[in-house]
Amino acid sequence: MACQALITCLESYLLSLKSCYASLSGGDPTPECIRDHLATLISDYVSDMLQLEDHTRKPLRVLGIGSGDGCKDICFLEVLSNGGPKIKDKYLQLFQRTIEPNEESLETFQAKSKYLPERLTSGADVKFEWFPMTFQEYVKKEKKDDINFDVVHFFHSAYYVDFETALVYCYEKELGSKGIIACAISHEESAFVRYSKEFSQQGLILNPGPYYSSKDITDLAKKNSWKYLECPGHYIRCDITSIFDHSSVERNQLLNFLTHRVDFRATASQENRQKVLDYWKNVCEEDKDSEKRTVWMKVCMIVIVKGM
Ligand SMILES: C[S@@+](CC[C@H](N)C(=O)[O-])C[C@H]1O[C@@H](n2cnc3c(N)ncnc32)[C@H](O)[C@@H]1O
Repeated sequence: MACQALITCLESYLLSLKSCYASLSGGDPTPECIRDHLATLISDYVSDMLQLEDHTRKPLRVLGIGSGDGCKDICFLEVLSNGGPKIKDKYLQLFQRTIEPNEESLETFQAKSKYLPERLTSGADVKFEWFPMTFQEYVKKEKKDDINFDVVHFFHSAYYVDFETALVYCYEKELGSKGIIACAISHEESAFVRYSKEFSQQGLILNPGPYYSSKDITDLAKKNSWKYLECPGHYIRCDITSIFDHSSVERNQLLNFLTHRVDFRATASQENRQKVLDYWKNVCEEDKDSEKRTVWMKVCMIVIVKGM
């Protein structure tokens, strides 16, 4: 069986992504990172800039790229409606254009958009526009009444685009003269990112995108002399015990996610399989009582600022 990059098979990708979220102690840390870190970065550094326009009248415009089922986008809209650019006691106008190629995820987001939480609707009126396509398709698409955005975000989606081209495009074409690009992304110290460094010379990494880290984004910002802010990051433990269980196909989903390959166990050679499992065995911590094996993952938020 030929080996295949996980992102080329959406069904397998979504299954393995779910298994990754399920293996994280306390669940996905990104909403917390948005509520704690991104909210603070916005209110401390860029809320004046985002408030330049009266967003009680002219909507604050957000472009969400690779929004998935929208749970983080909604969390972020809540931050905007309750934090930085909110004009005290006034009702904010928000507009979000969403780009998402996965039909199922987009439908979930669309369904949620009809029943937004009161925390959000009490502070803002939100309108959505949907682009069911990849970012690459979006860039090529002719758009009538094209508009500029105040905020562009890539919440764990910069992995699936050529991030350099995408960020330069968003900075130059999607943002107006002022605005921010927020990227939630794995941190350099994450076991997941270190795995790709270990194996990139050995032909085991089919596609480097999923292993992009915050350092790739900050290096790009430095190269382009863009101002940027970086949050301290959020560590989380990932339980990888199941990847050593050879018996269950389902349990291989996490191994597929870590290696970013479809059915890694069946498609890798015996030698490569052993190398990869040895790597994870060496970097994990084992709890002697529970026999659980865990590694540290770390996510963080980078905010690129234009016009400050
Ligand atoms: C790791 S998920 C993150 C989803 C969501 N932003 C979140 O943080 O929960 C990556 C998302 O990027 C989407 N995606 C994959 N390839 C893409 C592309 N070329 N352009 C835009 N989005 C893409 C996937 O469908 C998926 O919803």
